[in-house]
Amino acid sequence: MAFNCKYKLLTIILTVISGTSPSTMYDAYSGNVLTPEQYKGHIKRNTTFWCTNEIEPCNPHEGRRVDGSCNNLQHPSVGASHTPGYHVLPVVFDGYNDSRKSCRGKELPLSRKVRTTLLLEGRLPDQQITHLLTYFSVFMSADVLSFHDTINYMIWNTHCCDEGGRDDPECISIKIPDDDPVHRFSSERCLNLTKPFTFQSNGCASTKYSPERIVTSTPAFDLSHIYGNKLDNSLTKRTFKNGLLKYEIADGRIWPPSLEHYQGICIANEPPHETRCHDVGDDSNNGILGTNLFTVWMWRHHNHIATELATINPCWGDEQLFYTAREINIAMAMQMFLYEHQPILLGEENLMKEGVLSPSHGYRDVYNEDVLPQVSLEYGFSLRWTHTIQEGIAKMYDTNGNYIKYTRIANLTLRTGYLAVDDNIDYITQGAFRQPTGNVDHAVDPDIAETGLGITQRLSDITASDLQKNRFLGIAPYVDYRRYCFGEVIRTFDDLLRAIDPERIELLKELYDDVTDIDLMAGMWVERPISRGRAPATFYCLTVEQLVRTVASDRHWYERHNRPNAFTINQLLEIRKASMARLLCDVGDKVTSIQPRAFLIPGPGNEIASCEKIPSVNLNAWRDKRCRSQ
Ligand SMILES: *[C@@H]1O[C@H](CO)[C@@H](O)[C@H](O)[C@H]1NC(C)=O
Ligand SMILES: *[C@@H]1O[C@H](CO)[C@@H](O)[C@H](O)[C@H]1NC(C)=O
Ligand SMILES: *[C@@H]1O[C@H](CO)[C@@H](O)[C@H](O)[C@H]1NC(C)=O
Ligand SMILES: *[C@@H]1O[C@H](CO)[C@@H](O)[C@H](O)[C@H]1NC(C)=O
Repeated sequence: MAFNCKYKLLTIILTVISGTSPSTMYDAYSGNVLTPEQYKGHIKRNTTFWCTNEIEPCNPHEGRRVDGSCNNLQHPSVGASHTPGYHVLPVVFDGYNDSRKSCRGKELPLSRKVRTTLLLEGRLPDQQITHLLTYFSVFMSADVLSFHDTINYMIWNTHCCDEGGRDDPECISIKIPDDDPVHRFSSERCLNLTKPFTFQSNGCASTKYSPERIVTSTPAFDLSHIYGNKLDNSLTKRTFKNGLLKYEIADGRIWPPSLEHYQGICIANEPPHETRCHDVGDDSNNGILGTNLFTVWMWRHHNHIATELATINPCWGDEQLFYTAREINIAMAMQMFLYEHQPILLGEENLMKEGVLSPSHGYRDVYNEDVLPQVSLEYGFSLRWTHTIQEGIAKMYDTNGNYIKYTRIANLTLRTGYLAVDDNIDYITQGAFRQPTGNVDHAVDPDIAETGLGITQRLSDITASDLQKNRFLGIAPYVDYRRYCFGEVIRTFDDLLRAIDPERIELLKELYDDVTDIDLMAGMWVERPISRGRAPATFYCLTVEQLVRTVASDRHWYERHNRPNAFTINQLLEIRKASMARLLCDVGDKVTSIQPRAFLIPGPGNEIASCEKIPSVNLNAWRDKRCRSQ
């Protein structure tokens, strides 16, 4: 089965390592096995990288693979990167080059117009939630999505608003209307934007089919943006000593390794002082502040765990230390995400009732082989609603909670170097758990709405971009999701009263000719929150829909007792103690005290306390008796 020399060599290496039969080539889009002829065609067209997945034979007793394959034993390639998402509702497809039209066949109202009408610009701090919540949101979403679509219009394809961009089918730039509340006073009439990368744009599928977004992450929550999405890129991150990831120490701080030549990545670093740029391998690692911070923390956290495991189990080798630390790091991230982070927006009782959260501390097994490990198009998309509660300003504090200074978050995009100078990461870390996030209030921070991407773009309205992408991907209208989620049949604007306050329905009437034209994102911007939660009801529904799938489809889900290398019950009970406060105590810069519930503002009942008072995960539960007898 030798298709070319490189492949032959790789096969030999893999065969030597694993001692198993050679791997199989899959079509990334369809999930079918490729014939040698079809594979040759991909080589000829140089489409192997995006359109094919090389997968070793599945072994049901093997742990979680770095590349995500074999998560579902019946469909080995589903679960790998570059595989299609799930669709909650069929997409509306009006031709590959065209966005969704209104039900009368007309253009929908301009995205920027919809945004400025429905979301006011302004800042109102939330009374309960900390900034850390949005940082962790964006980091966890990067685990299952990609940052490359944003990099694309910031760095690679930057001409969308120029003469040449007008006819580029990959451009979907945003038109600014003449009566724009901000730009009526300027001559700006265009915001750069490119289409999301799809299987079609990468030559993997026919444009006869609706555009299918292509993402680099694996669809399971497995910290693939830390550990890599392929075995070869994962190996480049390791020291092969004591289970550690490569690291650097500078000014007494531990960092992921830094790229020396980072042309095209950390372009906003201000030399000569700001030189750091993570060499971690995913675009998100140097992307925006939230992903950059958590990259540093989760990277350090791996080494923190591995080092402790090595002390507890001196007879363990590098491989066992590495994979056990990875497993624990992933499980702790998911424990914090599901049980600590998500309930704040979605409501703990609600999530319990829906089966997202386990009612008991013990094992739970809801694995269902018929549910595929996929992320829904709608989930990735609805997460963008979170932009409306993203603060534009990061306030910076010292360890005693004294305010030092602020910085604009947009200015830190593609600027990892800023974190490593002037103790900035210390002050930003303190601010993350002291500063409130933006309120859930139909308003968007002015920076997110006008200059969201910092210096690479003079202007950008992140929220209008969200809406514009919504249309290109053919996401079904808002009312279809109300029907799917709540069984409501909405035929007139008045029927919306169940979901939306009357004054906001007035605004929708001004924008859309027909109630069935309303975009999903527009609906989420104005609808009322779910009861006992804070998020818009449809956002809630589509998030729950995904989280239920995540737990049911992941054969390696950490709460299962019968997965390969499952945690013992004592180990699982330790994982349950993971908290964001403990994470920051362990790996946050100069964090020696913090409130126990770090996503909530410190105050009565949640006072800032010494880290010694914050419960830890006791890794002694992983003690291996064999080490003692040696
Ligand atoms: C082949 O595809 C890869 C991945 O998309 C790309 O980086 C490379 O530039 C392409 N090579 C040629 C010769 O087009
Ligand atoms: C989309 O537009 C481009 C450029 O105008 C054209 O080459 C391509 O054939 C179009 N695709 C479809 C499916 O119409
Ligand atoms: C953000 O960047 C802009 C453009 O470079 C600059 O004018 C502004 O002073 C910066 N603001 C802060 C708070 O760093
Ligand atoms: C669009 O991108 C180009 C190239 O990066 C940039 O010069 C221009 O300022 C951008 N336009 C806006 C409105 O930000």
